[in-house]
Amino acid sequence: MLDLGEKTVYQIYPKSFRDADGDGFGDLRGIIEKLDYLQGLGVDYLWLTPVFPSPQNDNGYDVADYCAIDPRFGTMADIEELISRSERRGLKVMLDMVFNHTSTFHEWFQKALAGDKEYQDYYIFREGSGEEPPTNWQSKFGGPAWEYVPSLGKWYLHLYDVTQADLNWKNPRVREELKGVIRFWKEKGVKGFRFDVVNLISKPEHFENDFQGDGRRFYSDGPHIHEYLKELVRDTGIGEMMTVGEMSSTHLKDCIRYSNPQEQELSMCFQFHHLKVDYKNGEKWSLTEPDRMELKRLFEEWQTGMQRGHGWNALFWCNHDQPRIVSRFGDEGPYWKESAKMLGSCIHLMQGTPYIYQGEELGMTNPHFREIGQYRDVESLNYYEILLGQGKTEEEALQILAARSRDNSRTPMQWSGEANGGFTEGTPWIEPAGNYGEINARMQAEDEDSILHFYKTLIRIRKEKALISKGSIAFLMQDNSDVLAYSRAYRDEELIVLNNLTDREITVSAEPAWSRYEKLLGNYEGCRLEGGSVVLRPFETIALEKRG
Ligand code: NOJ
Repeated sequence: MLDLGEKTVYQIYPKSFRDADGDGFGDLRGIIEKLDYLQGLGVDYLWLTPVFPSPQNDNGYDVADYCAIDPRFGTMADIEELISRSERRGLKVMLDMVFNHTSTFHEWFQKALAGDKEYQDYYIFREGSGEEPPTNWQSKFGGPAWEYVPSLGKWYLHLYDVTQADLNWKNPRVREELKGVIRFWKEKGVKGFRFDVVNLISKPEHFENDFQGDGRRFYSDGPHIHEYLKELVRDTGIGEMMTVGEMSSTHLKDCIRYSNPQEQELSMCFQFHHLKVDYKNGEKWSLTEPDRMELKRLFEEWQTGMQRGHGWNALFWCNHDQPRIVSRFGDEGPYWKESAKMLGSCIHLMQGTPYIYQGEELGMTNPHFREIGQYRDVESLNYYEILLGQGKTEEEALQILAARSRDNSRTPMQWSGEANGGFTEGTPWIEPAGNYGEINARMQAEDEDSILHFYKTLIRIRKEKALISKGSIAFLMQDNSDVLAYSRAYRDEELIVLNNLTDREITVSAEPAWSRYEKLLGNYEGCRLEGGSVVLRPFETIALEKRG
Protein backbone atom coordinates (compact mmCIF):
# COMPACT_ATOMS: atom_id res chain seq x y z
CA MET A 1 0.00 0.00 0.00
CA LEU A 2 1.22 3.49 -0.88
CA ASP A 3 1.65 5.71 2.14
CA LEU A 4 -0.25 8.63 0.66
CA GLY A 5 0.29 10.85 3.69
CA GLU A 6 4.06 10.90 3.26
CA LYS A 7 4.06 11.88 -0.40
CA THR A 8 4.17 15.27 -2.03
CA VAL A 9 3.28 15.84 -5.68
CA TYR A 10 4.80 18.59 -7.82
CA GLN A 11 2.71 19.81 -10.73
CA ILE A 12 4.53 20.75 -13.92
CA TYR A 13 2.83 22.76 -16.64
CA PRO A 14 5.35 21.75 -19.34
CA LYS A 15 4.48 24.57 -21.69
CA SER A 16 5.72 27.11 -19.12
CA PHE A 17 8.33 25.14 -17.17
CA ARG A 18 11.54 25.21 -19.19
CA ASP A 19 12.14 25.55 -22.90
CA ALA A 20 15.25 23.61 -23.90
CA ASP A 21 15.12 24.20 -27.67
CA GLY A 22 14.48 27.94 -27.72
CA ASP A 23 11.15 27.94 -29.56
CA GLY A 24 9.45 29.77 -26.69
CA PHE A 25 7.38 26.75 -25.73
CA GLY A 26 8.41 24.59 -22.74
CA ASP A 27 9.27 20.96 -23.47
CA LEU A 28 10.17 17.55 -22.07
CA ARG A 29 13.92 18.11 -22.43
CA GLY A 30 13.43 21.25 -20.39
CA ILE A 31 11.97 19.14 -17.58
CA ILE A 32 14.89 16.71 -17.86
CA GLU A 33 17.28 19.68 -17.42
CA LYS A 34 15.56 20.57 -14.16
CA LEU A 35 15.50 17.16 -12.50
CA ASP A 36 18.24 18.18 -10.06
CA TYR A 37 16.08 21.03 -8.85
CA LEU A 38 13.05 18.76 -8.44
CA GLN A 39 15.01 16.10 -6.64
CA GLY A 40 16.50 18.76 -4.37
CA LEU A 41 13.03 19.95 -3.46
CA GLY A 42 12.30 16.47 -2.10
CA VAL A 43 8.99 15.80 -3.86
CA ASP A 44 7.92 12.26 -4.76
CA TYR A 45 5.74 12.57 -7.87
CA LEU A 46 5.86 14.81 -10.91
CA TRP A 47 2.44 15.36 -12.44
CA LEU A 48 2.72 16.63 -16.01
CA THR A 49 -0.30 18.34 -17.52
CA PRO A 50 -1.07 16.96 -21.02
CA VAL A 51 1.79 16.63 -23.48
CA PHE A 52 -0.18 14.70 -26.10
CA PRO A 53 -0.78 15.87 -29.67
CA SER A 54 -3.31 18.64 -29.51
CA PRO A 55 -4.37 21.76 -31.40
CA GLN A 56 -3.73 23.51 -28.06
CA ASN A 57 -7.05 25.31 -28.06
CA ASP A 58 -7.19 24.53 -24.35
CA ASN A 59 -3.44 24.13 -23.86
CA GLY A 60 -3.41 20.38 -24.31
CA TYR A 61 -6.68 19.54 -22.52
CA ASP A 62 -7.99 19.07 -26.04
CA VAL A 63 -6.28 15.76 -26.79
CA ALA A 64 -6.09 14.58 -30.39
CA ASP A 65 -4.13 11.36 -29.68
CA TYR A 66 -3.74 9.86 -26.22
CA CYS A 67 -0.81 7.58 -27.01
CA ALA A 68 1.68 9.95 -28.61
CA ILE A 69 3.67 13.07 -27.74
CA ASP A 70 3.05 16.45 -29.33
CA PRO A 71 6.20 17.34 -31.29
CA ARG A 72 6.17 20.76 -29.63
CA PHE A 73 6.91 18.98 -26.35
CA GLY A 74 9.32 16.42 -27.78
CA THR A 75 9.22 12.76 -28.72
CA MET A 76 8.24 9.42 -27.25
CA ALA A 77 11.97 8.82 -26.62
CA ASP A 78 12.07 12.05 -24.59
CA ILE A 79 9.25 11.01 -22.31
CA GLU A 80 10.76 7.56 -21.87
CA GLU A 81 14.02 9.20 -20.92
CA LEU A 82 12.24 11.56 -18.54
CA ILE A 83 10.50 8.64 -16.86
CA SER A 84 13.66 6.57 -16.46
CA ARG A 85 15.89 9.46 -15.36
CA SER A 86 13.25 10.56 -12.87
CA GLU A 87 12.96 7.02 -11.47
CA ARG A 88 16.69 6.92 -10.87
CA ARG A 89 16.28 9.96 -8.65
CA GLY A 90 13.31 8.54 -6.80
CA LEU A 91 10.81 10.67 -8.70
CA LYS A 92 7.74 9.06 -10.21
CA VAL A 93 5.90 10.46 -13.21
CA MET A 94 2.13 10.97 -13.25
CA LEU A 95 0.27 11.79 -16.44
CA ASP A 96 -2.95 13.69 -16.99
CA MET A 97 -5.80 11.67 -18.47
CA VAL A 98 -8.41 13.86 -20.11
CA PHE A 99 -11.21 11.33 -20.46
CA ASN A 100 -14.32 13.49 -20.26
CA HIS A 101 -13.76 14.77 -23.79
CA THR A 102 -11.43 14.62 -26.78
CA SER A 103 -10.38 17.28 -29.20
CA THR A 104 -12.68 17.46 -32.20
CA PHE A 105 -9.47 16.86 -34.17
CA HIS A 106 -9.18 13.39 -32.63
CA GLU A 107 -9.53 10.64 -35.23
CA TRP A 108 -12.65 9.31 -33.47
CA PHE A 109 -14.47 12.62 -33.79
CA GLN A 110 -13.31 13.10 -37.35
CA LYS A 111 -14.75 9.68 -38.24
CA ALA A 112 -17.97 10.61 -36.47
CA LEU A 113 -18.20 13.80 -38.52
CA ALA A 114 -17.59 11.83 -41.71
CA GLY A 115 -20.74 9.86 -40.95
CA ASP A 116 -19.37 6.74 -39.24
CA LYS A 117 -22.21 5.64 -36.92
CA GLU A 118 -19.94 3.58 -34.71
CA TYR A 119 -17.81 6.63 -33.91
CA GLN A 120 -20.81 8.92 -33.57
CA ASP A 121 -21.73 6.73 -30.62
CA TYR A 122 -18.35 7.61 -29.04
CA TYR A 123 -19.76 11.10 -28.45
CA ILE A 124 -23.03 12.65 -27.37
CA PHE A 125 -24.95 13.62 -30.49
CA ARG A 126 -28.59 14.62 -30.09
CA GLU A 127 -31.32 16.23 -32.12
CA GLY A 128 -32.48 19.67 -31.09
CA SER A 129 -35.92 21.14 -31.52
CA GLY A 130 -36.02 23.33 -34.58
CA GLU A 131 -33.20 25.83 -34.30
CA GLU A 132 -32.81 25.15 -30.58
CA PRO A 133 -30.13 22.92 -29.05
CA PRO A 134 -31.23 19.82 -27.11
CA THR A 135 -30.94 21.63 -23.77
CA ASN A 136 -30.16 25.12 -22.50
CA TRP A 137 -26.93 23.98 -20.79
CA GLN A 138 -23.99 26.34 -20.79
CA SER A 139 -20.36 25.51 -21.54
CA LYS A 140 -17.95 26.15 -18.68
CA PHE A 141 -16.00 28.47 -20.96
CA GLY A 142 -19.10 30.56 -21.75
CA GLY A 143 -21.83 30.14 -24.41
CA PRO A 144 -24.00 27.10 -25.20
CA ALA A 145 -22.77 23.58 -24.42
CA TRP A 146 -24.05 22.20 -27.74
CA GLU A 147 -22.74 22.70 -31.25
CA TYR A 148 -24.73 22.01 -34.37
CA VAL A 149 -23.27 19.88 -37.15
CA PRO A 150 -25.27 20.71 -40.31
CA SER A 151 -24.09 17.64 -42.24
CA LEU A 152 -25.49 15.34 -39.54
CA GLY A 153 -28.45 17.48 -38.55
CA LYS A 154 -27.44 16.93 -34.93
CA TRP A 155 -25.79 18.71 -32.02
CA TYR A 156 -22.86 17.43 -29.99
CA LEU A 157 -22.27 18.15 -26.32
CA HIS A 158 -19.15 20.06 -25.25
CA LEU A 159 -19.05 21.05 -21.59
CA TYR A 160 -15.83 22.97 -22.34
CA ASP A 161 -14.59 24.53 -25.58
CA VAL A 162 -16.43 23.86 -28.82
CA THR A 163 -13.35 21.86 -29.91
CA GLN A 164 -13.64 19.58 -26.84
CA ALA A 165 -16.43 17.07 -27.53
CA ASP A 166 -17.72 15.06 -24.56
CA LEU A 167 -17.23 11.31 -24.75
CA ASN A 168 -20.10 8.90 -24.33
CA TRP A 169 -19.08 6.72 -21.38
CA LYS A 170 -22.28 4.71 -21.70
CA ASN A 171 -20.70 3.11 -24.73
CA PRO A 172 -18.56 0.14 -23.56
CA ARG A 173 -16.26 0.60 -26.57
CA VAL A 174 -15.32 4.07 -25.33
CA ARG A 175 -14.53 2.67 -21.92
CA GLU A 176 -12.35 -0.05 -23.50
CA GLU A 177 -10.45 2.49 -25.61
CA LEU A 178 -9.66 4.57 -22.55
CA LYS A 179 -8.51 1.55 -20.56
CA GLY A 180 -6.12 0.88 -23.43
CA VAL A 181 -4.66 4.37 -22.96
CA ILE A 182 -3.94 3.70 -19.29
CA ARG A 183 -2.32 0.36 -20.08
CA PHE A 184 -0.15 1.99 -22.75
CA TRP A 185 1.28 4.56 -20.32
CA LYS A 186 1.57 2.07 -17.49
CA GLU A 187 3.83 -0.02 -19.70
CA LYS A 188 5.98 3.05 -20.32
CA GLY A 189 6.64 3.23 -16.58
CA VAL A 190 4.19 5.96 -15.59
CA LYS A 191 3.40 5.54 -11.87
CA GLY A 192 0.32 7.63 -11.38
CA PHE A 193 -2.56 9.35 -13.10
CA ARG A 194 -4.51 12.53 -12.66
CA PHE A 195 -7.99 12.31 -14.15
CA ASP A 196 -9.29 15.56 -15.56
CA VAL A 197 -12.85 16.55 -14.48
CA VAL A 198 -13.53 12.87 -14.03
CA ASN A 199 -16.72 13.33 -12.01
CA LEU A 200 -18.40 14.73 -15.15
CA ILE A 201 -18.09 11.60 -17.28
CA SER A 202 -21.46 10.07 -16.41
CA LYS A 203 -24.24 12.01 -18.10
CA PRO A 204 -27.93 11.55 -17.21
CA GLU A 205 -30.20 9.10 -19.06
CA HIS A 206 -32.36 11.94 -20.37
CA PHE A 207 -31.18 15.41 -21.26
CA GLU A 208 -33.43 18.15 -19.92
CA ASN A 209 -33.28 21.91 -19.59
CA ASP A 210 -31.88 23.37 -16.40
CA PHE A 211 -33.96 26.33 -15.27
CA GLN A 212 -31.93 26.77 -12.07
CA GLY A 213 -28.38 26.70 -13.38
CA ASP A 214 -26.08 25.82 -16.26
CA GLY A 215 -26.84 22.10 -16.30
CA ARG A 216 -24.08 20.96 -13.96
CA ARG A 217 -26.46 19.51 -11.39
CA PHE A 218 -27.45 16.85 -13.94
CA TYR A 219 -23.96 15.58 -14.74
CA SER A 220 -21.63 16.39 -11.78
CA ASP A 221 -21.09 13.14 -9.80
CA GLY A 222 -23.50 11.65 -12.38
CA PRO A 223 -25.58 8.47 -12.12
CA HIS A 224 -22.97 5.82 -13.08
CA ILE A 225 -19.82 7.60 -11.98
CA HIS A 226 -18.77 5.19 -9.23
CA GLU A 227 -19.48 2.19 -11.43
CA TYR A 228 -17.34 3.59 -14.27
CA LEU A 229 -14.44 4.43 -12.01
CA LYS A 230 -14.46 1.03 -10.35
CA GLU A 231 -14.45 -0.67 -13.72
CA LEU A 232 -11.61 1.50 -15.05
CA VAL A 233 -9.45 0.90 -11.99
CA ARG A 234 -10.15 -2.82 -11.84
CA ASP A 235 -9.53 -3.49 -15.53
CA THR A 236 -6.31 -1.48 -15.75
CA GLY A 237 -4.83 -2.61 -12.41
CA ILE A 238 -4.12 0.92 -11.20
CA GLY A 239 -5.62 0.33 -7.75
CA GLU A 240 -2.20 0.39 -6.09
CA MET A 241 -1.01 3.46 -7.97
CA MET A 242 -1.22 7.11 -7.13
CA THR A 243 -4.43 8.39 -8.70
CA VAL A 244 -6.22 11.67 -8.22
CA GLY A 245 -9.51 12.74 -9.67
CA GLU A 246 -10.24 16.35 -10.44
CA MET A 247 -13.80 16.82 -9.19
CA SER A 248 -15.81 19.73 -10.51
CA SER A 249 -18.68 21.07 -8.35
CA THR A 250 -18.57 17.86 -6.35
CA HIS A 251 -20.11 16.65 -3.11
CA LEU A 252 -18.45 15.39 0.05
CA LYS A 253 -20.41 12.13 0.06
CA ASP A 254 -19.17 11.32 -3.44
CA CYS A 255 -15.57 12.31 -2.68
CA ILE A 256 -15.62 9.94 0.26
CA ARG A 257 -16.60 7.16 -2.10
CA TYR A 258 -14.08 8.18 -4.76
CA SER A 259 -11.22 8.02 -2.29
CA ASN A 260 -12.13 5.53 0.44
CA PRO A 261 -9.73 2.60 -0.22
CA GLN A 262 -12.51 0.06 0.32
CA GLU A 263 -14.36 1.39 -2.70
CA GLN A 264 -11.35 0.73 -4.96
CA GLU A 265 -11.83 3.89 -6.99
CA LEU A 266 -9.11 6.57 -6.65
CA SER A 267 -6.43 7.52 -4.12
CA MET A 268 -7.73 11.06 -3.59
CA CYS A 269 -9.74 13.99 -4.89
CA PHE A 270 -9.22 17.58 -5.87
CA GLN A 271 -12.27 19.62 -4.94
CA PHE A 272 -12.50 23.38 -5.38
CA HIS A 273 -14.97 24.71 -2.84
CA HIS A 274 -12.28 26.50 -0.81
CA LEU A 275 -11.15 28.31 -3.96
CA LYS A 276 -14.53 29.94 -4.51
CA VAL A 277 -14.62 31.98 -1.30
CA ASP A 278 -13.65 35.09 -3.25
CA TYR A 279 -16.35 34.66 -5.91
CA LYS A 280 -19.23 37.09 -5.49
CA ASN A 281 -22.41 35.00 -5.15
CA GLY A 282 -20.55 32.06 -6.64
CA GLU A 283 -19.70 34.01 -9.80
CA LYS A 284 -16.05 33.61 -10.83
CA TRP A 285 -15.91 36.67 -13.10
CA SER A 286 -16.61 39.19 -10.36
CA LEU A 287 -14.43 40.63 -7.63
CA THR A 288 -14.86 40.57 -3.89
CA GLU A 289 -12.72 40.07 -0.79
CA PRO A 290 -12.17 36.45 0.32
CA ASP A 291 -14.68 35.29 2.92
CA ARG A 292 -12.31 33.90 5.55
CA MET A 293 -15.06 32.48 7.75
CA GLU A 294 -16.30 30.48 4.79
CA LEU A 295 -12.76 29.35 3.99
CA LYS A 296 -12.37 28.03 7.52
CA ARG A 297 -15.77 26.39 7.45
CA LEU A 298 -14.98 24.62 4.20
CA PHE A 299 -11.61 23.36 5.40
CA GLU A 300 -13.26 21.96 8.48
CA GLU A 301 -16.08 20.40 6.51
CA TRP A 302 -13.76 18.66 4.04
CA GLN A 303 -10.97 17.73 6.41
CA THR A 304 -13.15 16.29 9.14
CA GLY A 305 -15.76 14.97 6.70
CA MET A 306 -13.19 13.00 4.71
CA GLN A 307 -11.59 11.81 7.94
CA ARG A 308 -14.93 10.46 9.21
CA GLY A 309 -15.67 8.77 5.91
CA HIS A 310 -12.11 7.42 5.46
CA GLY A 311 -11.66 9.43 2.29
CA TRP A 312 -8.45 11.25 1.39
CA ASN A 313 -7.92 14.88 0.38
CA ALA A 314 -5.50 16.28 -2.16
CA LEU A 315 -4.22 19.47 -0.46
CA PHE A 316 -3.67 22.40 -2.76
CA TRP A 317 -4.04 26.12 -3.32
CA CYS A 318 -2.59 26.40 -6.80
CA ASN A 319 -2.74 24.78 -10.17
CA HIS A 320 -2.72 25.84 -13.80
CA ASP A 321 -6.34 27.04 -13.56
CA GLN A 322 -6.02 29.15 -10.43
CA PRO A 323 -4.54 32.60 -9.88
CA ARG A 324 -1.40 32.64 -7.73
CA ILE A 325 -2.30 32.12 -4.08
CA VAL A 326 0.06 34.74 -2.67
CA SER A 327 -1.65 37.36 -4.86
CA ARG A 328 -5.05 36.05 -3.89
CA PHE A 329 -5.06 35.29 -0.15
CA GLY A 330 -1.60 36.58 0.80
CA ASP A 331 0.31 39.78 0.23
CA GLU A 332 2.46 40.88 -2.71
CA GLY A 333 3.91 43.77 -0.69
CA PRO A 334 5.78 43.89 2.62
CA TYR A 335 4.54 40.47 3.80
CA TRP A 336 5.10 38.63 0.55
CA LYS A 337 7.53 36.12 2.03
CA GLU A 338 5.67 35.66 5.32
CA SER A 339 2.31 35.19 3.63
CA ALA A 340 3.65 32.73 1.05
CA LYS A 341 5.15 30.62 3.83
CA MET A 342 2.00 30.85 5.95
CA LEU A 343 -0.19 29.70 3.06
CA GLY A 344 2.20 26.81 2.44
CA SER A 345 2.24 25.57 6.01
CA CYS A 346 -1.49 26.10 6.34
CA ILE A 347 -2.27 23.27 3.91
CA HIS A 348 0.91 21.18 4.12
CA LEU A 349 0.28 20.42 7.77
CA MET A 350 -3.30 19.26 7.15
CA GLN A 351 -4.43 15.70 6.55
CA GLY A 352 -4.00 14.59 2.94
CA THR A 353 -1.41 14.66 0.16
CA PRO A 354 -0.02 18.09 -0.71
CA TYR A 355 0.40 19.31 -4.29
CA ILE A 356 2.79 22.11 -5.22
CA TYR A 357 2.25 23.91 -8.49
CA GLN A 358 5.43 25.09 -10.25
CA GLY A 359 6.58 28.42 -8.87
CA GLU A 360 4.38 28.25 -5.77
CA GLU A 361 7.49 27.17 -3.86
CA LEU A 362 9.04 30.52 -4.88
CA GLY A 363 6.01 32.64 -4.01
CA MET A 364 5.39 33.50 -7.67
CA THR A 365 2.71 36.16 -8.12
CA ASN A 366 0.08 37.04 -10.72
CA PRO A 367 1.66 38.93 -13.65
CA HIS A 368 -0.82 41.85 -13.62
CA PHE A 369 -1.37 41.92 -17.36
CA ARG A 370 -2.85 45.19 -18.58
CA GLU A 371 -3.89 44.45 -22.13
CA ILE A 372 -6.12 41.82 -23.65
CA GLY A 373 -3.31 41.01 -26.13
CA GLN A 374 -1.24 39.59 -23.27
CA TYR A 375 -3.78 36.84 -22.57
CA ARG A 376 -3.72 33.42 -24.23
CA ASP A 377 -6.34 31.38 -22.38
CA VAL A 378 -9.53 30.52 -24.25
CA GLU A 379 -11.69 30.91 -21.14
CA SER A 380 -10.25 34.35 -20.38
CA LEU A 381 -10.65 35.52 -23.96
CA ASN A 382 -14.28 34.32 -24.06
CA TYR A 383 -15.13 35.93 -20.75
CA TYR A 384 -13.54 39.21 -21.76
CA GLU A 385 -16.09 39.41 -24.56
CA ILE A 386 -18.90 38.28 -22.27
CA LEU A 387 -18.00 40.95 -19.69
CA LEU A 388 -17.96 43.65 -22.36
CA GLY A 389 -21.29 42.34 -23.60
CA GLN A 390 -22.64 42.73 -20.06
CA GLY A 391 -21.77 46.41 -20.20
CA LYS A 392 -18.44 46.43 -18.35
CA THR A 393 -15.84 48.88 -19.63
CA GLU A 394 -12.58 47.52 -21.05
CA GLU A 395 -10.82 48.67 -17.92
CA GLU A 396 -13.28 46.89 -15.65
CA ALA A 397 -13.09 43.71 -17.70
CA LEU A 398 -9.28 43.79 -17.64
CA GLN A 399 -9.30 44.31 -13.90
CA ILE A 400 -11.43 41.20 -13.45
CA LEU A 401 -9.19 39.18 -15.78
CA ALA A 402 -6.07 40.33 -13.93
CA ALA A 403 -7.46 38.73 -10.77
CA ARG A 404 -9.28 35.72 -12.20
CA SER A 405 -7.62 34.57 -15.42
CA ARG A 406 -6.05 31.13 -15.61
CA ASP A 407 -3.10 32.77 -17.36
CA ASN A 408 -2.11 34.15 -13.95
CA SER A 409 -0.57 30.78 -13.17
CA ARG A 410 0.64 29.98 -16.67
CA THR A 411 3.40 32.56 -16.98
CA PRO A 412 6.91 31.11 -17.33
CA MET A 413 8.61 29.53 -14.34
CA GLN A 414 11.07 32.02 -12.85
CA TRP A 415 14.41 30.25 -12.75
CA SER A 416 16.75 33.23 -12.61
CA GLY A 417 17.06 36.96 -13.19
CA GLU A 418 18.15 36.39 -16.79
CA ALA A 419 15.96 37.30 -19.78
CA ASN A 420 12.48 35.74 -19.51
CA GLY A 421 13.38 34.46 -16.07
CA GLY A 422 15.65 31.84 -17.63
CA PHE A 423 12.62 30.03 -19.09
CA THR A 424 13.61 30.38 -22.75
CA GLU A 425 16.27 31.83 -24.96
CA GLY A 426 13.55 32.53 -27.53
CA THR A 427 10.30 34.48 -27.38
CA PRO A 428 8.01 32.96 -24.74
CA TRP A 429 4.52 31.91 -25.82
CA ILE A 430 3.21 34.02 -22.95
CA GLU A 431 4.93 36.95 -21.25
CA PRO A 432 6.66 36.33 -17.94
CA ALA A 433 5.66 38.25 -14.83
CA GLY A 434 7.81 41.36 -14.57
CA ASN A 435 9.24 40.45 -11.14
CA TYR A 436 11.53 37.57 -12.11
CA GLY A 437 14.53 39.71 -11.16
CA GLU A 438 13.40 39.60 -7.52
CA ILE A 439 11.49 36.31 -7.40
CA ASN A 440 13.43 33.40 -8.85
CA ALA A 441 14.75 29.96 -8.01
CA ARG A 442 18.43 30.83 -8.27
CA MET A 443 18.21 33.58 -5.65
CA GLN A 444 16.11 31.51 -3.30
CA ALA A 445 18.38 28.47 -3.55
CA GLU A 446 21.12 30.58 -1.98
CA ASP A 447 18.96 32.02 0.80
CA GLU A 448 18.29 29.75 3.79
CA ASP A 449 15.33 31.92 4.80
CA SER A 450 13.64 31.71 1.40
CA ILE A 451 10.18 30.41 0.59
CA LEU A 452 11.89 27.64 -1.39
CA HIS A 453 13.74 26.41 1.70
CA PHE A 454 10.57 26.63 3.76
CA TYR A 455 8.78 24.37 1.25
CA LYS A 456 11.69 21.91 1.40
CA THR A 457 11.18 21.74 5.15
CA LEU A 458 7.44 21.20 4.77
CA ILE A 459 8.05 18.30 2.38
CA ARG A 460 10.72 16.76 4.62
CA ILE A 461 8.85 16.91 7.93
CA ARG A 462 5.82 15.23 6.38
CA LYS A 463 8.06 12.23 5.68
CA GLU A 464 9.64 12.32 9.12
CA LYS A 465 6.55 12.73 11.27
CA ALA A 466 3.68 10.28 11.42
CA LEU A 467 1.85 13.03 13.28
CA ILE A 468 1.63 14.93 9.99
CA SER A 469 1.29 12.05 7.55
CA LYS A 470 -1.11 9.93 9.61
CA GLY A 471 -2.47 12.06 12.46
CA SER A 472 -6.11 12.95 12.96
CA ILE A 473 -7.22 16.55 12.61
CA ALA A 474 -9.55 18.82 14.59
CA PHE A 475 -10.24 22.51 14.05
CA LEU A 476 -9.80 25.21 16.70
CA MET A 477 -10.99 28.81 17.09
CA GLN A 478 -13.73 28.37 14.50
CA ASP A 479 -15.40 31.64 15.50
CA ASN A 480 -12.27 33.67 14.81
CA SER A 481 -12.22 34.81 11.18
CA ASP A 482 -8.59 35.96 11.31
CA VAL A 483 -6.85 32.78 12.37
CA LEU A 484 -7.00 29.36 10.80
CA ALA A 485 -6.07 26.94 13.56
CA TYR A 486 -6.11 23.20 13.91
CA SER A 487 -4.57 20.41 15.90
CA ARG A 488 -3.19 17.12 14.71
CA ALA A 489 -2.93 14.06 16.96
CA TYR A 490 -1.18 10.74 16.63
CA ARG A 491 -0.79 8.32 19.55
CA ASP A 492 0.20 10.65 22.38
CA GLU A 493 1.78 13.29 20.17
CA GLU A 494 0.04 16.53 19.28
CA LEU A 495 0.63 19.43 16.93
CA ILE A 496 -1.02 22.83 17.12
CA VAL A 497 -0.97 24.89 13.91
CA LEU A 498 -1.89 28.57 14.05
CA ASN A 499 -2.10 30.68 10.89
CA ASN A 500 -2.75 34.38 10.93
CA LEU A 501 -4.63 35.04 7.69
CA THR A 502 -4.31 38.82 8.00
CA ASP A 503 -1.68 41.56 7.74
CA ARG A 504 -2.42 42.62 11.32
CA GLU A 505 -1.12 41.41 14.65
CA ILE A 506 -3.76 39.12 16.17
CA THR A 507 -3.88 37.91 19.77
CA VAL A 508 -5.58 34.62 20.53
CA SER A 509 -5.90 32.79 23.81
CA ALA A 510 -3.52 29.92 24.41
CA GLU A 511 -3.93 26.69 26.35
CA PRO A 512 -1.60 26.63 29.39
CA ALA A 513 0.00 23.41 28.11
CA TRP A 514 1.26 25.10 24.92
CA SER A 515 4.00 26.83 26.89
CA ARG A 516 5.66 23.43 27.24
CA TYR A 517 5.36 22.58 23.54
CA GLU A 518 8.29 22.85 21.17
CA LYS A 519 8.17 25.03 18.09
CA LEU A 520 8.39 22.75 15.08
CA LEU A 521 8.14 25.37 12.39
CA GLY A 522 7.31 29.03 11.81
CA ASN A 523 7.94 32.03 9.59
CA TYR A 524 9.11 34.43 12.32
CA GLU A 525 11.78 34.19 15.02
CA GLY A 526 10.59 32.61 18.27
CA CYS A 527 7.00 32.49 19.41
CA ARG A 528 5.16 35.25 21.23
CA LEU A 529 3.41 33.09 23.78
CA GLU A 530 2.66 35.57 26.53
CA GLY A 531 0.72 34.57 29.64
CA GLY A 532 -2.52 33.05 28.51
CA SER A 533 -2.26 34.22 24.90
CA VAL A 534 -0.28 33.99 21.70
CA VAL A 535 0.42 37.12 19.71
CA LEU A 536 0.50 36.25 16.02
CA ARG A 537 2.44 38.65 13.85
CA PRO A 538 1.15 39.57 10.33
CA PHE A 539 0.64 36.36 8.33
CA GLU A 540 2.48 34.38 11.00
CA THR A 541 2.33 30.61 10.89
CA ILE A 542 3.49 28.58 13.81
CA ALA A 543 3.39 24.87 14.57
CA LEU A 544 3.84 23.83 18.19
CA GLU A 545 4.53 20.21 19.00
CA LYS A 546 3.88 18.17 22.11
CA ARG A 547 5.86 14.98 22.20
CA GLY A 548 4.50 11.92 23.95
C1 NOJ B 1 -9.74 20.99 -16.03
C2 NOJ B 1 -8.37 21.41 -16.43
O1 NOJ B 1 -7.60 21.58 -15.28
C3 NOJ B 1 -8.51 22.66 -17.26
O2 NOJ B 1 -7.28 23.28 -17.51
C4 NOJ B 1 -9.23 22.30 -18.51
O3 NOJ B 1 -9.50 23.47 -19.25
C5 NOJ B 1 -10.56 21.60 -18.22
N1 NOJ B 1 -10.45 20.61 -17.20
C6 NOJ B 1 -11.08 20.93 -19.45
O4 NOJ B 1 -10.27 19.83 -19.78
